[in-house]
Amino acid sequence: QAEATERISAVYGTVKRDVVVVIGVLFLLALGTGLYTLEANRKTFARLQHLTEQLQSQSEALQKLSWKLIDVQEETLRRVARDLHDEFGQILTAIGAMLGRAGKKALDEDSNRDGALVQELQAVQKIVQETLQTVRDQSQMFRPAILDDFGLEQALEWFVKQFSRQAGINVRFEAELRDGAFPPEDAIHVYRIVQEALANVARHAKAREARVTLKEQDGELDLEIRDDGVGFAVGPESNRSSGDGLGLMGMRERAEHLNGSLAIQSAPGKGTTISVRVPLRKKMGIANRE
Ligand SMILES: Nc1ncnc2c1ncn2[C@@H]1O[C@H](COP(=O)(O)OP(=O)(O)OP(=O)(O)O)[C@@H](O)[C@H]1O
Ligand SMILES: [Mg+2]
Repeated sequence: QAEATERISAVYGTVKRDVVVVIGVLFLLALGTGLYTLEANRKTFARLQHLTEQLQSQSEALQKLSWKLIDVQEETLRRVARDLHDEFGQILTAIGAMLGRAGKKALDEDSNRDGALVQELQAVQKIVQETLQTVRDQSQMFRPAILDDFGLEQALEWFVKQFSRQAGINVRFEAELRDGAFPPEDAIHVYRIVQEALANVARHAKAREARVTLKEQDGELDLEIRDDGVGFAVGPESNRSSGDGLGLMGMRERAEHLNGSLAIQSAPGKGTTISVRVPLRKKMGIANRE
């Protein structure tokens, strides 16, 4: 009986040990699974938080952009109204007065004898011609008709020359682009990118020289606007859209709208280079793109 008791207790001991081992393994398994789930959840939450922050910054950027749009619209209308009133209103008043005087001279034979009437009319003609040029320049600034008539390369060449003269900065323009490589509805965005980039050069860069290059490479349009000015610290890639000013943001939006990208290379004292790459569409793909 003593032997039997001993065997029973030995078997009991083994079973007990096995049970403890199984419980231990199960416990470790449960702990591992728990820890893994916890870590996975933590990562998911961190990612979610990052996405939320990104969304928030993008929605802030969008809001800023839409306000800027309203602002620009108001500013443009104000400028047009002011120009119409100040410039053209005064010019037309002057022309009216000059024509009135000429009319009087035409009636009065004495004062007309020495060709005063002709002189008066020539002066009017000169003012009209100058005004016509101003109107042309201004309407080109709003919507460059030259873009529809002659294409991107010529439009940019004209604009760069105009800018260079007005801003007093020497800007070189180099372009190698096939005729009609870029349809006008897309070209206007490239044109506006150059316009804003050069506006920034004039406003911020204190540059002596700038260069605009435009070329076709590997089925892409490569545009570069480079200046030798003061440069600036470019924010990190992750928060570019919120860190940028509205001009840079608009430029990037336009590049992305054309399925392209925009990169800024700049550092204080090192000048600035804006590089834009936009895929050129194949002729047959035109109808497919929305
Ligand atoms: N070529 C440049 N040289 C030096 N600094 C520049 C240049 N381009 C941009 N910057 C800097 O980047 C900032 C953002 O430019 P961005 O065009 O986005 O805004 P902005 O010109 O200040 O205002 P706006 O919204 O009217 O364009 C500028 O304020 C300027 O400090
Ligand atoms: Mg700007």
